[in-house]
Amino acid sequence: MVGRVTLIEIYEHAITQKYVRRSGMAHAISVAYHAFRLAENYGVNPDWAAKAGLLHDIGHYEWYQDGEWDYEQYRNHDIHPIKGAERAHKLLVRLGEDRKVAKEISLAVLFHTESALPEGEYKLTPLQMVVHLADEKDKQPGDGHHYRNIDRQKEIRLIKQLDQQINQFLIESTMT
Ligand SMILES: [Fe+2]
Ligand SMILES: [Fe+2]
Repeated sequence: MVGRVTLIEIYEHAITQKYVRRSGMAHAISVAYHAFRLAENYGVNPDWAAKAGLLHDIGHYEWYQDGEWDYEQYRNHDIHPIKGAERAHKLLVRLGEDRKVAKEISLAVLFHTESALPEGEYKLTPLQMVVHLADEKDKQPGDGHHYRNIDRQKEIRLIKQLDQQINQFLIESTMT
């Protein structure tokens, strides 16, 4: 796709390496895959879904106390969906993403979990729903999904593969 901001460009950016890695690159990649697969059923652009999946936890802060994750601090003070929405938006715009798309992806990051949002009923858009469900699919007991690791060569291979699948989908959808 000419002009498409790719997942590998996002992955390689220092901001992604710093902040997405904090909460687990393997989790981010697998949520990107789940979001890509769910996108079709929800009539959502799979490119936007995969990007939002990859970036959904980019807002995490390190709640460490004496080398241990401090859950109490996390529960009380975490705003990762809010911070993530802003970080994802800034990164995407910097990479040249269309501003409308960057906003949609940013909102999907904001709504991927209600943990930091005011109580109430939210009517999620299909893209927001896809990213929320994709995250739920990859959750493991004891927050294990944040600590799973794969080697970097495999990360890159998986990201490139997903880029290819997205390109394929976009090419096919312009032919029909
Ligand atoms: Fe999250
Ligand atoms: Fe997550």
